[in-house]
Amino acid sequence: MVLITGVGSRIGFPRASTRSALSAVSLLALGACSGPAADELDTGSVTQAVSCKKAAAVGEELFETAFPGTNGRSCATCHVLADHAVLKPARVADLLATNPTDPLFNALDADDPTAAELTYEHLKKGLVRVVLDLPDNMDTLDPLTGEVNTPPDRKIAVWRGVPTIENTAITAPYQFDGREATLQEQAQGAVIAHSEGGTVAQADLDAIAAFQMAEFSSNRAKYVAKKLKKGVPVENIPRPELRMDELTPAQQRGLDIYNASCEPCHGGATTNLIVDREVHDFALPELKPDGSGNVLFDTSVTPPTPVLADRPNDEFLNLGIANLTAFGQIGFPGIFTSDVEMPQYRFRFYTDATRTVPTADLPPIPEFDPVTFQPLLDENGAPIVGPNFTPQFFSTDPGRAAITGDPHDFEAFDMPPLRGIANTAPYFHDNAAETLVDLVNIYSRFIIQFFPMLNRPLVNPPEEGSVFPESFTPEEKADLIAFLEIL
Ligand code: HEC
Ligand code: HEC
Repeated sequence: MVLITGVGSRIGFPRASTRSALSAVSLLALGACSGPAADELDTGSVTQAVSCKKAAAVGEELFETAFPGTNGRSCATCHVLADHAVLKPARVADLLATNPTDPLFNALDADDPTAAELTYEHLKKGLVRVVLDLPDNMDTLDPLTGEVNTPPDRKIAVWRGVPTIENTAITAPYQFDGREATLQEQAQGAVIAHSEGGTVAQADLDAIAAFQMAEFSSNRAKYVAKKLKKGVPVENIPRPELRMDELTPAQQRGLDIYNASCEPCHGGATTNLIVDREVHDFALPELKPDGSGNVLFDTSVTPPTPVLADRPNDEFLNLGIANLTAFGQIGFPGIFTSDVEMPQYRFRFYTDATRTVPTADLPPIPEFDPVTFQPLLDENGAPIVGPNFTPQFFSTDPGRAAITGDPHDFEAFDMPPLRGIANTAPYFHDNAAETLVDLVNIYSRFIIQFFPMLNRPLVNPPEEGSVFPESFTPEEKADLIAFLEIL
């Protein structure tokens, strides 16, 4: 199933087949060029090391050059190598002012691709349009009327930030929704989707992968990749920041906060592996069997508690960011994307591709007290709420559910790595947080409190200019950021 699909094909751009640019290089054992350059490994042979370095060098050139027969965009058009391979909002604004004919400014990522005069407010937030095939067992619904309104081509579009390609040696699967298993598949999808190109030679895809696999945000990240490549079990890999740095008192305090509040989901050395299943499972409630999309509660206990879905090996998680973004659309403060229009979806899930027996509508129609905004209670005294536990009017991005067609994956995303995080603002799949300060505020005000096992209730009063009580004090936030900055 190829899930990143070219809008190009829909609006009728030609799809040239793209010729190989790699003929000159002998790609001895390119398959072995994944992870840190082989010459840095104790066991790497010299021949292999040389060929890997060559492949990575060719891959870098391919990364920075548009393939023939494309719309002129290279990978580096969006993954700007001078900016740690992300797309900075400030850079987009500058480029639009100084060079509006740059290939970045393509109708594909215009606010409205059909407008007579194209504008790029989403791109100026660092957001790129991602078009996905709706799974066969899903429909879209009009959020207000509930009528099925699936477009004839069965595609949906969402806006997502540009993740870095640094540290990809330790971050598979790829994309925020984990839909690509290998860097080669990912690159081929990107050439079609973003550059309106055709099939790329396997050797070129391998070279691009080799380049990306050798890019690290720091020696700490490279250290982790080396250990992984050697087959060291992830739980036995020492945290490099504890080996390589002498932590300042502030960083040490930040580490303690990380260990208590962040590690359960982000993990140790790799920073992208869930280690506490209790925390993960708490974010994955079971839904009522009535197809409403509301959460199933155990009403034999007082107060009723959500029944949790049984997902022992699931590595994705709904942190509630898409829900916050939806609130941002209706005036909720502190969300970076509030002033650009995000899509407003509701989805109907069915048992199978015949789309005859619905299993859930997500988000469900909100039933709440208009004064207190609290959910109404059902006949058993349980709140009538969807998987975000708040009244939610629409979804801006279904996340992993658009890949699996499973309502449990609604608004769930892959665990992002935190290595090099200080370099890659804005944050979250849809750039909801502009800075690390905004991100930590979101965790302190809207996330950590909902996980009782993290033992961080809202104990601190609102800060100046805010109305929301906090899980962290201003000092704790500063310490946590001091620690995140050395990852
Ligand atoms: C128009 C901008 C744009 C272009 C051009 C582009 N990308 Fe991306 N890239 C993105 C966006 C946006 C995402 C996230 C998409 C998602 O998760 O749905 C992404 C995701 C990725 C990821 C996943 C990283 C991770 O950790 O999950 C990799 C790797 C990547 N791109 C490599 C490439 C390569 C290689 C090329 C060139 C062949 C390329 N990109 C071209 C915007 C772009
Ligand atoms: C319950 C699990 C969970 C906990 C606890 C958690 N995170 Fe996350 N974190 C996630 C998920 C899932 C995402 C991706 C969400 C999205 O993009 O929608 C994420 C995203 C992030 C990002 C953005 C990464 C990027 O590249 O945009 C940062 C930074 C981050 N978390 C830091 C933290 C810190 C700091 C803490 C502790 C205060 C923490 N996280 C606690 C699950 C968690």
